[in-house]
Amino acid sequence: MQLERTHKKLGLRGLEAVEIVENLNTSLSTYQIFYHKVQNFHWNVEGSDFFDIHELTEGLYNESIQNIDILAERVRLLGGVPYYRLSDYIQHSKIAETTHDLSGDNIKLILLEDLEVLLKVLTETANYSIKHNDYGTVHVIQEMIHGLEMMHYKLHSWLK
Ligand SMILES: [Fe+2]
Repeated sequence: MQLERTHKKLGLRGLEAVEIVENLNTSLSTYQIFYHKVQNFHWNVEGSDFFDIHELTEGLYNESIQNIDILAERVRLLGGVPYYRLSDYIQHSKIAETTHDLSGDNIKLILLEDLEVLLKVLTETANYSIKHNDYGTVHVIQEMIHGLEMMHYKLHSWLK
């Protein structure tokens, strides 16, 4: 017996699910690039902020990889295929790959900017999900947004 696509069970018609999946894949790609940047900061930060940034980025990339997994599995749940090639992530990410200045202050500024982009992309995905009454996707993204906003507030305070 052939399995039906799960989005039908959710009451989402094909095109609605496709629109949400496209947005989820953009969020997934952006988060993947963010994750790798944060890991680079963790390994290669230099200067007086080394221990603070080293510790902060470890927590951030661990949280990121969990959220990446949730986004990818949400795509599957909706009947789509999450991007899995690094080339797809680079092409669809709204965050650019890392730079070479790995001083603590520069890393804090880059993280702030990237968090803002990531929050914008996730909010767009949540907006599409609300448009189609897909509150399961909205729920998981809301939790991610809250975590990222908390990180943004802490970094912003640190930079003052
Ligand atoms: Fe480590």
